[in-house]
Amino acid sequence: MASSGLKPAVIDESAGLQELAKQHLWLHFSRMGAYEDAEIPIIVRGEGPYLWDDHGNRYLDGLSALFCSNVGHGREELADVAAAQLRELEFVTTWNYAHPRAIELAARIANLAPGELNRVFFTSGGSEAVESAIKLARNYFRATGKGQKHKLVAREIAYHGTTLGALAATGVPALRQPFEPLAPGGSHVPNTRSYRWPADRDPLWAAEKIAERIEFEGPDTVAAVILEPVQNAGGCIPPQQGYFQRVREICDAYDVLLISDEVICSWGRLGHWFGCERYDYQPDIITTAKGLTSAYVPMGAMIASERVYEPFSEGSAMFAHGFTFGGHPVAAAVALANIEIIEREDLNGHVLRTQGEFRQTLEDLREIPIVGDIRGAGFFLAIELVKDRDSKQSFDDDEAEWLLRDFLSGELYRQGLICRTDDRGDPVIQLAPPLICGSEHFEEIGAVLEKVLTEAWARMDKRG
Ligand SMILES: Cc1ncc(COP(=O)(O)O)c(C=O)c1O
Repeated sequence: MASSGLKPAVIDESAGLQELAKQHLWLHFSRMGAYEDAEIPIIVRGEGPYLWDDHGNRYLDGLSALFCSNVGHGREELADVAAAQLRELEFVTTWNYAHPRAIELAARIANLAPGELNRVFFTSGGSEAVESAIKLARNYFRATGKGQKHKLVAREIAYHGTTLGALAATGVPALRQPFEPLAPGGSHVPNTRSYRWPADRDPLWAAEKIAERIEFEGPDTVAAVILEPVQNAGGCIPPQQGYFQRVREICDAYDVLLISDEVICSWGRLGHWFGCERYDYQPDIITTAKGLTSAYVPMGAMIASERVYEPFSEGSAMFAHGFTFGGHPVAAAVALANIEIIEREDLNGHVLRTQGEFRQTLEDLREIPIVGDIRGAGFFLAIELVKDRDSKQSFDDDEAEWLLRDFLSGELYRQGLICRTDDRGDPVIQLAPPLICGSEHFEEIGAVLEKVLTEAWARMDKRG
């Protein structure tokens, strides 16, 4: 019935989960046709860094459920906090009202955020946070007499979300093209992936490209630059030394706001509350989500500086923007408890102390010829896979399709490791385990990767 395209007259809700999933659950970013002859993985339980499927198989969650589960799965403390909040006050909006948890969380975040990032606007997730930041940047300049400034500079291959506004920042052509025309004003510059840069290239080349782009667009028309501390798409791309300092100078010189998109890079992922602290720069706006609640419930936030907030602080001025669930009491209560856990267990310190050991686990794989580059920071690392290590030659589209989709993603999962295989740039494997992981988990990750990558190389070699 599913393949006929017709809706059955009566939906048999007693069918097994697998069948119901195939018939009714539309997975995000998934080729649904791929599941015609294959099972949809169904995860039923989590504890610490591990997940279990409906067959009882255990997996090491090397991706923190999409860069989210910073404190790990199955924390009763967070379940209790959510239940208590549901009993006390399940919901009011933060439109014209406030409630204790949203107030407390806003103050806590403002305290942790660097500099004058004191104004916290809650959302339900990352795309909404980015959408809010883009709208705030435009509105800020309109409110301060520079209404021409509306354009956005982002980086190639960067992912900033999928709503139409955020998509103007996202720099992945395959995610943009099906939905064009997008919100106007988005433009893109090279990212900081230096793996194939000529040896004599100025390390601040990518930063200068931002200045060139602002000049090209016309400084009077550019509102904001949006960058992740470590760029996710393309495979955990760190900045060059001094990159963000130069970007800050450029933004100041052209009166352009700097948005640090930390949907992944905050809440300990890089060993700091916020990724910008790791690279010592001061944004005008931070966007965050995912690890804010360790994804026990959905929540995001836009954190704005006093300067950006100021035009909306007096008289009849208003930021005419909001979401029903922004600052949901249950999410706010869980976020407060999640931050308390990160602090109590010193997970930032743990990441800083063990990031070298985690990285070494991947460095030890370098003898496998398919392993090209290893990059990233904190608990956010990627391996770029190559066809020829000496020339750094990448795989063509057919080879990458076989390698990532036909072999690696299934085989890594079968071997008990959840991680990300991605080819939004060149093929990479990404690892971002929960921040509670230590030596035993790194060893487990290393053992699975060694086995599967060795096999991938052997099979690739045979394919010729
Ligand atoms: C840097 C960045 N920005 C924005 C988003 C969008 O967040 P969400 O999927 O919660 O809408 C993501 C999601 O992965 C992200 O990594």
